[in-house]
Amino acid sequence: MQNRRQFLTSAAALSASTVWDSTAMSTTTRNDDTPVVLRAAEVHRKLEPGVDQPSRLFLYNGDSPGPTIRGRRGEQIRVLFENDLGVPSTIHWHGIRLENQMDGVPGLTQSPVLPGESHLYEFTVPDAGTYWYHAHFNSLEQVARGLYGPLIVDGDADHLDGMKEVVIVLDDWWVGKNGRFIDGFTDWTQGKPGGRIGNIVTVNGAPPGTRLGVPTGQAVRLRLINSANAREFFLDFQQLNASVVAVDGQPLPRPVQPQSPLRLGPAQRIDVSFVQGGDDEVNLIEASGTLGAQSVLATLISERGSVAPIKLLPLKSNNLAEPDRSKAVEIPFIMTGGSIAEIEGVFHQGERRNSIALSHAQQIWAFNGVADLPEAPLFRVERGTSVRLLMENRTGWSHAMHVHGHHFKVIGTADELSPDMWRDTIMIDRNQNLEIAFVADNPGRWLFHCHMLQHAVSGMRTWFEVT
Ligand code: C2O
Ligand code: CU
Repeated sequence: MQNRRQFLTSAAALSASTVWDSTAMSTTTRNDDTPVVLRAAEVHRKLEPGVDQPSRLFLYNGDSPGPTIRGRRGEQIRVLFENDLGVPSTIHWHGIRLENQMDGVPGLTQSPVLPGESHLYEFTVPDAGTYWYHAHFNSLEQVARGLYGPLIVDGDADHLDGMKEVVIVLDDWWVGKNGRFIDGFTDWTQGKPGGRIGNIVTVNGAPPGTRLGVPTGQAVRLRLINSANAREFFLDFQQLNASVVAVDGQPLPRPVQPQSPLRLGPAQRIDVSFVQGGDDEVNLIEASGTLGAQSVLATLISERGSVAPIKLLPLKSNNLAEPDRSKAVEIPFIMTGGSIAEIEGVFHQGERRNSIALSHAQQIWAFNGVADLPEAPLFRVERGTSVRLLMENRTGWSHAMHVHGHHFKVIGTADELSPDMWRDTIMIDRNQNLEIAFVADNPGRWLFHCHMLQHAVSGMRTWFEVT
C-alpha cells in the first residue's frame, strides 16, 4: 500500500526512476539575468489516490519540495517570489550567510509580502554546501503545508564536483484517518509540547522506499535535508558504507564513517558520500524505530559500470572566521517552558505575564525569562566580536536551535563526527548545557530561534544585532 501512494509529487515525476535525482527534481540553474521565479499558491490535492477529500497545501511552483535552486560559491542568486497565497509570506534562505535585508524575516528584516505581491530576493552565496529555503511567515503552518525546497551551492573544483548526486528532502505530514492533512493551527500547541510530528513520512514528496539507480564503482553524494516541523530522523548509513563529508552545508575537516545512526534534527542537513560496490542494492534506513514499514527511506541499486575505487578526500572548507573564545562576549541563555505553569511570570511583549495572559497569547516557552521576541536584542555587538552562547536547556524537551546569518562552532561535545564542527542548527537535549561560539561578522538584526516551528511560535524566538 505504502508504495502505491502517489502523494505530493506529480505522476510524471514519479514515473521516472530517478524521481529524486537532483536533475529530475525541477532544477533551476545558476544565475543569468532572469531571476528564478518561485510562485507560492494554495493547492487542493488529494494526498493519495483513493482518499475522499483533498488537502489544503501551500506549494512553490506546484510541488513540495519546490524546485532545487542552485548557485555557485561567491556568485549571486536572484529569486522573484510571487505570492499567490491568500495570506502574507516571505522566504528565508536557511543557512546562507547573506545580506540581512534578504533574510526573509517579517518584522525584523523586511515587511511581509502581501497576497498578490511579489518580492525580489538577490544575495551572494559565500559558502558551498547543502542549504534550503522555506516560508518564514507563520512558518508553523506554511512550512507544514509544503512551502520549502533545496538550495544547493556548488564549490569550485572540489573532488566531489560532477559526481552523481542525489538530493533527499525528508518531511512528515500529520494526516487523519480520511487521509487528509490535519489543520488545527489555531491551537499552536496542538496539545503536543514536542511539536507537530506527522504520521506519514515523505522522501522528496513521495512515499519512502523509492528505488534509485546509482553507478557501480563511482562515488555518489547524498545531500539530506530535514524539512519537517519537529521530527528528528535517525539515519543509518551502515548498508551504504557512507562517510559524512559535511553538516549544515559546512565540510567536516575529514570524512567520517559513522558507527551508529546519525541524528538529523529539524532544518539540519547531512552530506554523505559512498561508492556502490558489488551489492545489488542497499538501503538508506531510518533507525528511530518510529516509522515501522516506512523505515526504508530509499533503496540504491547498482547499475553496471566498472569499479574504480576512489579515495574520499575532505571537501574544501568555506571561509569562516574562527571565534576567539578567550576574548569572546559571554551570553548566558536559559531555556524554560513546556507548559504555561513553567513560565508563569515571564515577560511577553514588554510586560510580566500571568498564566491567563500567557494562555491567551499561546506562549509556553521562554528564553532568559522572555517569551517571544523581546524589544531589546538578546545581545548587540560590534561587527567582528566573538560571541559565546552558553545555552542551558531547563525544559523537558529537545530543541533545534538555529542562528540566522552565521554558522557557529559547537564547543566541547563528544560528537562522533567532529569535536568542533560548524553548524547553523544544533540539537540540544533536555537538561543539557551546550556552548556555541561564532564571530558576529554579519551586520544586521538576526533571529535566533528553535526550529521546532511550534516552539518558535509559542515563545522560542529571540534576536541579536551586529552593528
Ligand atoms: Cu530555517 Cu528562522 O529558519
Ligand atoms: Cu524547541
